[in-house]
Amino acid sequence: MARSPEYRQDKIIGEPMLNKPFYITTPIYYVNDRPHIGHSYTTIAADLLARYQRLNGREAFFLTGTDEHGSKIAEAAASAGLEPKAFCDRVVEHFKKTWDNLSIEYDDFIRTTDDRHVRAVQKLLMTLKDARTEAGQPVIYTGSYEGLYCVGCEKFLTEKDLVNGVCPDHKTTPRLLKETNYFFRLTAFLPRLKELIETNQLLILPEERRREALGLFGQELADFSLSRERVKWGIPLPFDPTQSAYVWVDALLNYYTTLKITNNEDFWPADIHLIGKEILWFHAVIWEAMLLSTGISLPKEIFAHSFYMIDGQKMSKSLGNVISPQELIDKFGVDGTRYLIASSFPYEKDSDVGWERFVEKYNADLANGLGNLISRVAKLCETKDYFPKNSPPTAISYLLENGDYQSHMEKLEFNLVLEEIWKEIKKTDVLINTKRPWEKSNEEAKKTLDEAIRNILNIGYALKPFLPGTAEKIEKIFRGGEKLEATLFPRATL
Ligand code: MSP
Repeated sequence: MARSPEYRQDKIIGEPMLNKPFYITTPIYYVNDRPHIGHSYTTIAADLLARYQRLNGREAFFLTGTDEHGSKIAEAAASAGLEPKAFCDRVVEHFKKTWDNLSIEYDDFIRTTDDRHVRAVQKLLMTLKDARTEAGQPVIYTGSYEGLYCVGCEKFLTEKDLVNGVCPDHKTTPRLLKETNYFFRLTAFLPRLKELIETNQLLILPEERRREALGLFGQELADFSLSRERVKWGIPLPFDPTQSAYVWVDALLNYYTTLKITNNEDFWPADIHLIGKEILWFHAVIWEAMLLSTGISLPKEIFAHSFYMIDGQKMSKSLGNVISPQELIDKFGVDGTRYLIASSFPYEKDSDVGWERFVEKYNADLANGLGNLISRVAKLCETKDYFPKNSPPTAISYLLENGDYQSHMEKLEFNLVLEEIWKEIKKTDVLINTKRPWEKSNEEAKKTLDEAIRNILNIGYALKPFLPGTAEKIEKIFRGGEKLEATLFPRATL
């Protein structure tokens, strides 16, 4: 759900930690189909990082949206028997609804078919048209190109990229295209770009992706065509409306132009462009070269994570092997889904997911772990006639101040952050098992319950970025004296 601007900063701890406000983006997703849990994975990660920054008192802007132009979308619309815009209007609602249902709090949602985006892109394209390289050559020039185009990737592939003649990601045969286009003089910016990545002025994480990006510079790279002659479903070039902007150029510009449109330029440069590893080339090379050519400062970091797999295959719309986020929400609830997705975050390795594993993890960690602890302590409070109405406020959770929590969070090692929190849950379970407050006098029991409640409030605070609904409920029960009506995480079955 869109956040209203005045809530962009939750000053819980006090003054902002750092002067530069935090800016995080997700890829803008293609609307050729509904979102699956692969998209949720990136969006939840960005949401929880933005929430974490706000918890630390830093202002944060979180941008997501949809990529709606190009052949891929035009073809999906045609097979649905709709005009492209009508088709996009329909699918975009699924994205927005999914993000709402997952408690995603973005600051803006940009659609590339928004007038505001189209105008801003055209303006920047004019800047590019007038730009010169250091050697004084125009950055944009006309030329013709012939190559194999994969509509799924919206990218020209070389013979080397193909496996048995098909695109390895989309399993489709690319088309031979020959067009006269406007070209972007990428080659003029490569040496500087390489240097920026080598010196980590543009940080690419994880390390394996940084190496991969640097490896790209060893290959023979050519200038790329920035426009399409035959693609009608796109933004017309302001200096030649017979051509439309290449869909990737149109899409990448959103990261910068949306801040401009909304008068939020002080958030630039982006602190993190969070992406999946398959689009590293576009972010580490194409996007950065465009920024260099216009003199706009580069983002600080690109974080390219790995994939959710199903039976060893990347989960993807084109392969049709997807799990929908709504199915997960229906079974595990919003916070249960956020937990399962965040804790499985295999940022370096692809990892197979499936229902069995989800159910098992949910039952172990949420139904039996956190949920059970909350129910147990709430019930003990009732039987021991103890209503923890005025528990002292935890201004900041000691877990949040814990160096491990912070460093894991900064490296997007969410599974490890959660492990830290779950240690605290286990510790509190052990405390109750050892002290056995149910056998003690009310007075004696209160001491143990006080300690358990302190731990639970602390756990709740540390869980705020991950499980916002549960964190709020914990506050209400153990500080507000609200009665726990039913267990927060009922057991799930396959
Ligand atoms: N429209 C482009 C991005 C333009 S950004 C300027 C695009 N869209 S997409 O719909 O294909 O989304 C790709 C992104 O979705 C990936 O980079 C990743 O963030 C996420 N994922 C898609 N499938 C995924 C998995 N199977 N696993 C994890 N994340 C995945 O590319």
